[in-house]
Amino acid sequence: MNGTPDRYTVIGNPIAHSKSPEIHARFAAQTGQDMIYERVLAPLDGFAQTVQELIRQGVKGSNVTVPFKLEAYALANSLTERAKAAGAVNTLTFENGVIAGDNTDGIGLVNDIVRNAGVAITGRRVLLLGAGGAARGVLLPIMDQRPAELVIANRTVGKAEELAMQFAAHGPVSASGFGSLKKSFDIVINGTSASLADDLPPIEPSIFGDNAFAYDMMYGKAPTVFMRFAQRHGARVRDGLGMLVEQAAESFCIWRGVRPDTAPVYADLRAGLQAE
Ligand code: ATR
Repeated sequence: MNGTPDRYTVIGNPIAHSKSPEIHARFAAQTGQDMIYERVLAPLDGFAQTVQELIRQGVKGSNVTVPFKLEAYALANSLTERAKAAGAVNTLTFENGVIAGDNTDGIGLVNDIVRNAGVAITGRRVLLLGAGGAARGVLLPIMDQRPAELVIANRTVGKAEELAMQFAAHGPVSASGFGSLKKSFDIVINGTSASLADDLPPIEPSIFGDNAFAYDMMYGKAPTVFMRFAQRHGARVRDGLGMLVEQAAESFCIWRGVRPDTAPVYADLRAGLQAE
């Protein structure tokens, strides 16, 4: 390799905990890409200035994490369809004076469910818990898989109704409160932030159909309360670590034009979590 390696960053606040540098370093080594990837802590009121400074320094692209995904969306000069639908951006590319915004969270989730867990979404009854930023971010890629139906359930029903209206053109999507969920589902995705507080959305065991698959977009050393509940009621469960690796792979692919092998990176991260 020769010349200066291309630079990429992840911007957030806080950022010290981010696993993205480790993931992208593994992808780069695996695919022989000459690049470096660093954490950048942006001041809470200084996201746009931080991005401008990184561009000035010649950085080629940045991932964006909490709490800047909405600001990244506003800052981008061009947006992909999935970023527009998400209303948020987690991947910025700086090229020829243009700030291009994309969102790889939803496709990361879908790839983890469909490819890694081997669970088809097409033709299945899907329940999405939550109607905040995380839930909205994954709706279009889920609808693109053509589920038989998608129900969005949220504590604040009005927010679920707004999302269902917004995505109505993409397929059979409807809104519900938790208490009025009467059907059972093949796939239940927890997109609420309840797991962060060790909390469980007020769901009934009857939402899990036969051989249901339950996915928590959060991850940690131990299974979340939602995963434990789902497992107790017969569902196969998976946490969001694979989504983290898959969204990174999609960003890497956008920037470098090469798709890394996510399996060994996922396995190492899982082993690292267990050792923490
Ligand atoms: P995020 O970016 O993580 O999606 P958010 O936009 O604040 O964060 O959304 C949080 C989501 O988790 C919302 O759907 C929220 O429900 P409300 O819209 O009714 O507030 C949901 N949520 C958070 N804590 C919850 C809990 N303990 N039980 C059920 N839902 C919860």
